[in-house]
Amino acid sequence: MIEPGFRAANVDQRGVPALELRHLHRFFGRLKAVDDVSFKAWPGQVMGFIGPNGAGKTTSMRILATLDTPTAGDAFVCGYSVVDDPDKVRRFLGFMPDSFGRYANMNVVEYLDFYARAYGLRDAQRRDAIEHVLVFTELRKLAEKPINTLSKGMSQRLGLGRCLIHDPQVMVLDEPAAGLDPRARVELRELIRLLATEMKKTVLISSHILTELGEICDSAAIIEAGQILAYGTVEEIQQRQQDNDDELKTARALNIRIAAESEIEHATDRLEKWLLEQPMVGQVQCSTGRAIFEFEGGDVEQKQLLQNLLTAGHPVIEFHGKSKSLEDAFMSITKGITQ
Ligand SMILES: Nc1ncnc2c1ncn2[C@@H]1O[C@H](COP(=O)(O)OP(=O)(O)O)[C@@H](O)[C@H]1O
Ligand SMILES: [Mg+2]
Repeated sequence: MIEPGFRAANVDQRGVPALELRHLHRFFGRLKAVDDVSFKAWPGQVMGFIGPNGAGKTTSMRILATLDTPTAGDAFVCGYSVVDDPDKVRRFLGFMPDSFGRYANMNVVEYLDFYARAYGLRDAQRRDAIEHVLVFTELRKLAEKPINTLSKGMSQRLGLGRCLIHDPQVMVLDEPAAGLDPRARVELRELIRLLATEMKKTVLISSHILTELGEICDSAAIIEAGQILAYGTVEEIQQRQQDNDDELKTARALNIRIAAESEIEHATDRLEKWLLEQPMVGQVQCSTGRAIFEFEGGDVEQKQLLQNLLTAGHPVIEFHGKSKSLEDAFMSITKGITQ
């Protein structure tokens, strides 16, 4: 049944987006913290919200969580407007803020119980919800532990558990990996993946650190100074960046590895000398059996270079470009603007 307040206009062939920001604006005086931000995320998707500090991530997320209201525009959670239907939005959304209070006199299970009660869960339903969260976050063994004695990694799991307690469709996580050690970060990443794959949640996760998001996100929106600079699947963003680089004739880095049964030093020297004589080859760095160099050509020229390399008799066993990571794309898309 379609309930009142449901925006049929949101529907396209994929159904209703789990999350949609539509021309969202939030100004603080003259500061345009969020300046016409639009994007969508679909059920079961993990979407990265990536941008430097001060870009407008927290402000956008707080509006999604109905803790703040937009200056203009709107945002929808499972089709419900944060402006018109904040109560419905809260039912469908779990928000993990970037920092949250840790009550000194509570243990893990009491903390979850407190939030379960706040969401109106009763008796068996509440017990089941708490049990489910304890199992999912692997905090079962720590149920009686005072929460102010938890490690950072454990308290982030608890924070995640807390916003799962009412089984929301959409999870909005504001920099959940900040300050975690590498192991805790990997564990958190796995939990977030499970949320999407097993529990079919839609996850919006923000970060100013790119590497931690590239591997878990299906899609990403890159924001800077309140505006979206790139939006799409991770592959699309990377590909677009590669196309831009090709258009701008930005040098790409190429790697060659050679193997010679004897005289590898000689073969490396010969390769270096040969490379330096080729058109479009910039800086060359060689070490035994390897060369890394800048190449200013596109795909066609790169193919020709490889052919020439083989024709010239270099014993090539590897020839590859350095593929752009999401981080490279981010560095090249954002300009370092602060307001
Ligand atoms: N309540 C507020 N009053 C005034 N300025 C704010 C307020 N909240 C955020 N800002 C400003 O809005 C901009 C975006 O902040 P924020 O959304 O927290 O960025 P991010 O989470 O991407 O680091 C920043 O310049 C910040 O100083
Ligand atoms: Mg923030």
